[in-house]
Amino acid sequence: MSDIHAQKILVLDFGSQTTQLIARRVREARVYCEIHPCTMPLAQIKAYAPKGIILSGGPASCYEPGAPSVDQGIFALGVPILGICYGMQIITHLMGGVVARGAKREYGPSKLTLSKSVGPFREFDPVEPLQVWMSHGDRIEQMPSGFATLAITGNSPVAAMGDLKRRIYGVQFHPEVAHTPRGAEMLAAFVLGDCGCQPIWTMHNFAEATIADFRQRLAGQKVICALSGGVDSSVVALLLHKAISENLTSIFVDNGVLRAGEVSEVAGVFRDVFGLNLIVVDAADAFLDRLQGVSDPEEKRRIIGHTFIEIFEAEAKKIGSVEYLAQGTLYPDVIESVSFKGPSAVIKSHHNVGGLPEKMRLKLVEPLRELFKDECREVGRELGLPESIVSRQPFPGPGLAIRILGEVTRPRLKTLREADAIVQEEMRGADLYTKVWQSFAVLVPVKTVGVMGDERTYEDVVALRIVDSVDAMTADWSRVPYELLAKISSRIINEVKGVNRVVLDISSKPPSTIEWE
Ligand code: XMP
Repeated sequence: MSDIHAQKILVLDFGSQTTQLIARRVREARVYCEIHPCTMPLAQIKAYAPKGIILSGGPASCYEPGAPSVDQGIFALGVPILGICYGMQIITHLMGGVVARGAKREYGPSKLTLSKSVGPFREFDPVEPLQVWMSHGDRIEQMPSGFATLAITGNSPVAAMGDLKRRIYGVQFHPEVAHTPRGAEMLAAFVLGDCGCQPIWTMHNFAEATIADFRQRLAGQKVICALSGGVDSSVVALLLHKAISENLTSIFVDNGVLRAGEVSEVAGVFRDVFGLNLIVVDAADAFLDRLQGVSDPEEKRRIIGHTFIEIFEAEAKKIGSVEYLAQGTLYPDVIESVSFKGPSAVIKSHHNVGGLPEKMRLKLVEPLRELFKDECREVGRELGLPESIVSRQPFPGPGLAIRILGEVTRPRLKTLREADAIVQEEMRGADLYTKVWQSFAVLVPVKTVGVMGDERTYEDVVALRIVDSVDAMTADWSRVPYELLAKISSRIINEVKGVNRVVLDISSKPPSTIEWE
């Protein structure tokens, strides 16, 4: 694209669960980086021309047969290298040192004592012990020649090592995780100091470069964009609008299972404020008719997915000869499809517009392919997207349909919408909406007995699902204050007709999922 990619760091993945965090920390230091499998051929690595290489951790033991490795040629490239945990062990193993199983596993917090303020530790005072996070069974018994110990912990005589001449470093701990509070500074020192990168990867620069690139690349081409009102598709639509506004048509399909007020908010922001060429399709009847009598979650998803494609396609046909479909694919989805086998190579992704490009023979334009979610939000802010959209919680494509257990009917949708609006309002009021990952109401297909005034009632149950997560792959229920729960509960029971009981979901993922269906 442009020179925001001129200086890049290569992160080679050995299957660690925290590889993406390494990349995020490097990006936070305003340096572009990509994750590739550790099996990347040397010729490709050379062609990629990284200013530095980071080797991730991984679950294997490097002395076992079949353990993942990396082409030794990287050590002759003359670029700085940092190995983290397994990455450090593989450097040791390949360069002639000795790695062996430690007497005991070291897992959790540890105190690191530095011996020299060099390399990733250049900004640190060696006298101050540093808190670091360890997670390893193997350890360095003998460093390769040319290496010196840079730090120790109680359990690791070589907790960090370096060949200062060649600028090859290894750390036994994980600088990328939040439990190593100053780890981000160490990674920044490596990429800015040792690798000599300039901090030019800013979302301001990204937006400018992307818009300039699209102006050139998409000139005269018709592009359509499926706008969902979520942050990803909103940022995609705005980036394209700034680049090729007259050739962009955005389509927002009201599938009848959206949250309260969503249609008017999206139309208001994109059409009225930003002046997008936006088609709002009211297709609620089509969706709800087809959902009639359907209780199976996967069947609901299938019906909603297919109906969406059908309606979107019909709208697109009216526009005429469209060349491109814009999609909000993010970097984690890209990594998933190329990742090295191991826990980081993983679990599932949901594609709201899956199947469309093939069916309609459209080329894809995916301006967010290189971005993490936080970066996407930052671009949104750069482009002036209102905070209410930028900081939106994720919302599933099948919408409220998979939060109404059992059949989706109009009256049940009304009940859930009202309950959900109260949850959103109270979470925002308590300043917790953006602090949790998701907070929503679920309509349970059970009636229970209650009493209101002198009357016995027999009405619906609403469950509250409020979770903390970093990437939706794992999650835990949020410990929100009792007072807030009490307020949400009493408001729902008092204000939403037909609900006489509110319960709290206190399950983690796994083994539960975030959504109930
Ligand atoms: P689960 O329920 O699997 O959800 O723990 C993980 C994340 O994905 C969202 N989700 C979906 N998103 N289509 C989507 O676009 C779907 O069918 C779907 N199902 C779950 C969910 O809201 C959570 O953020």
